[in-house]
Amino acid sequence: MTVDHQLSVTELTAGYGGTPILQGLNLDLLPGQITAIVGANACGKSTLLRVMSRLLRPDAGQVTLDGGSIHRMPTRALARVLGLLPQSPVAPEGITVADLVSRGRHPHQGLVSRWRRTDDEAVAAALDATRMSDLADRSVDELSGGQRQRAWIAMALAQDTDLLMLDEPTTFLDVSHQIELLDLLCDLNARRGTTIVMVLHDLNLAARYADHLVALRHGQLLVQGPPEDVLVERTVHQVFGLTSRIVTDPVSGRPMMLPIGRHRTRAESP
Ligand SMILES: Nc1ncnc2c1ncn2[C@@H]1O[C@H](COP(=O)(O)OP(=O)(O)OP(=O)(O)O)[C@@H](O)[C@H]1O
Ligand SMILES: [Mg+2]
Repeated sequence: MTVDHQLSVTELTAGYGGTPILQGLNLDLLPGQITAIVGANACGKSTLLRVMSRLLRPDAGQVTLDGGSIHRMPTRALARVLGLLPQSPVAPEGITVADLVSRGRHPHQGLVSRWRRTDDEAVAAALDATRMSDLADRSVDELSGGQRQRAWIAMALAQDTDLLMLDEPTTFLDVSHQIELLDLLCDLNARRGTTIVMVLHDLNLAARYADHLVALRHGQLLVQGPPEDVLVERTVHQVFGLTSRIVTDPVSGRPMMLPIGRHRTRAESP
């Protein structure tokens, strides 16, 4: 089982070139839970994941892991605890799927790098879980968008961290692979206690799969809580400027958002 790590963001201000994107943000990730971050394009979701995974240094405030600043942790030690799948990762040219996934094991190797059987096992398990084993020897450049996304997910899984952050992991995946991935993350969470934080644009999948939703607006935390409290018509309107109706998802019992546009709407809809 994993260790329950506490990752907290306190009075965080961060951005690019002096322009703040996140402002005065406070957030405590719930250890051992699945959190989904939702919000409009450009509201700062990826920026938040970058700061929480130390890819971006805050302008003010801090990010702590188990009470200590993540900016003071040795890189390898942090990478053994926290993994990030970025929104648009770039693979080295010509790298094979197996080599890419193997890179997930680097934080686990010693100073005199020794590849062990546990590393082979972790890579094989990650390839198997993402159904990429048959493509292991293919070059990442030659894959379809969905296959490439699964290769990156396999790399993040091979890293085998207690805390896993994923920025729009369902991008490029067909509906069946989306569900397979989210089920896989639920399995990881249930079996290993992995804390999962993911950015999702599909509010209904977010409400179905996450224990906790965090809604951002203009770089600030608008509301957070269980899906029933966050996925409400008022919040959908505040965050996306969209009129909607919330019903109960007959499959999961969680809230489900039906958008109301200008067309294809029955007369009796509000
Ligand atoms: N490297 C960068 N340099 C300068 N500005 C950036 C950089 N990355 C992001 N931004 C800006 O920061 C703001 C927030 O971007 P961010 O990527 O965090 O949004 P997001 O909520 O993840 O959006 P999306 O849903 O489109 O992925 C945007 O206005 C964006 O243009
Ligand atoms: Mg983003």
